[in-house]
Amino acid sequence: MITLHLRFPEQEHSHPIWLSTGLLDRCGAALREAGLEGAVALVSDTTVAADHGARARRSLEEAGFSVLEIHLPPGEGTKTLDTAAALYRRLAQGGIGRDGILVGLGGGVVLDLAGFVAATYMRGIAFVSIPTTLLAMVDASIGGKTGVDLPEGKNLVGAFYPPRLLLIDPMTLRTLPPAEWRNGMAEVVKAALIGDPALWQQFQRDPARWAAMPEGEPLLDLLTRAIAVKVRVVEQDPLETRGEREVLNLGHTFGHAFERVSGYRVPHGEAVAAGMVAAAALSARLGLLEDVDLPHHLERVLEGIRLPTRWRAWLARYGVDATPEQVIAAMGTDKKRRGGRLRFVVIQRPGAVRVYRDASYEAVYQALEETAHP
Ligand SMILES: NC(=O)c1ccc[n+]([C@@H]2O[C@H](COP(=O)([O-])OP(=O)(O)OC[C@H]3O[C@@H](n4cnc5c(N)ncnc54)[C@H](O)[C@@H]3O)[C@@H](O)[C@H]2O)c1
Ligand SMILES: [Zn+2]
Repeated sequence: MITLHLRFPEQEHSHPIWLSTGLLDRCGAALREAGLEGAVALVSDTTVAADHGARARRSLEEAGFSVLEIHLPPGEGTKTLDTAAALYRRLAQGGIGRDGILVGLGGGVVLDLAGFVAATYMRGIAFVSIPTTLLAMVDASIGGKTGVDLPEGKNLVGAFYPPRLLLIDPMTLRTLPPAEWRNGMAEVVKAALIGDPALWQQFQRDPARWAAMPEGEPLLDLLTRAIAVKVRVVEQDPLETRGEREVLNLGHTFGHAFERVSGYRVPHGEAVAAGMVAAAALSARLGLLEDVDLPHHLERVLEGIRLPTRWRAWLARYGVDATPEQVIAAMGTDKKRRGGRLRFVVIQRPGAVRVYRDASYEAVYQALEETAHP
């Protein structure tokens, strides 16, 4: 068992992260060990429930918990206030009280929604997070952000509400579709660039090895390292008020713009991959890149994993065409924008990234031109 801790000093809260193969079959005991008592509402989507719900339920019941199972339709469309409202009512009808425990089992959609419902139902009940996608394990479940989407934009309503316990069982990834693995890998590559140069070296040595999920020790090592990077960043800036946490947006200013111009037809991980390539080109343009070979290496790594690199050629595969001007215009509505100027996370070298506040229109335009086509 690998144990990490995530501390939120201002909130005087900290929670363990337990990572172990087969942990789902022991989740009931894990909740007891964490001192949790009360009725459990086990929330997942229908896909995850079919693959893993029974194991979670059995373990919880063996540990003496009563379990109310709730299955939601899979997909981003579920992350709404309407679904949250339906969930509140199911909890109330199922007799879940203030001492109840909401266990979220699933990807980022289930966890964001379940965490938000746990934060607000009866002004907050215990939340336990069990991520089942690579993206949720290394990103969505770490850092206490919960929330739902509005028609006006993603994640516009939410709360900082860290779980009492975060349980990660790599075995649950065995049923994950390969495309979802690669999507999550975009965030893992991002984590390596932000804060783990040794992991970055590992990717560079043999990128194709990471196109499909490895088993055993390499998988555990990958997860532990990527999680550790996010934990370190979040602990410096738990409520995203000081700016340190913003480095997690590496590749995301471009990536969100690509998603937007496509009408959200492209997977997030692919957008982040192409976005990191553009961000590396921008870093070079601004004269901030110390490792001049990095853009080339980054493309090789992403190609090996079978993630996109050149944004315009990649968007064309989805039948989308956009000009650099349109991409830049799409950045104008990014909620991360502050004070009217565009902020980018730039790369100096693997392990050293920072927020840059003053990129000129020309520099951004040229970075996009340069990385449009192979
Ligand atoms: N809270 C945060 O800090 C944070 C960070 C990043 C992303 N997010 C959010 O996470 C969401 C994306 O998460 P995601 O990529 O996990 O998407 P997801 O939850 O939609 O899962 C992707 C798909 O995989 C399926 N699935 C999940 N686990 C599976 C398994 N083990 N086997 C087979 N199929 C499985 C799901 O049913 C779904 O169809 C977005 O809503 C995003 O906003 C939140
Ligand atoms: Zn992301």
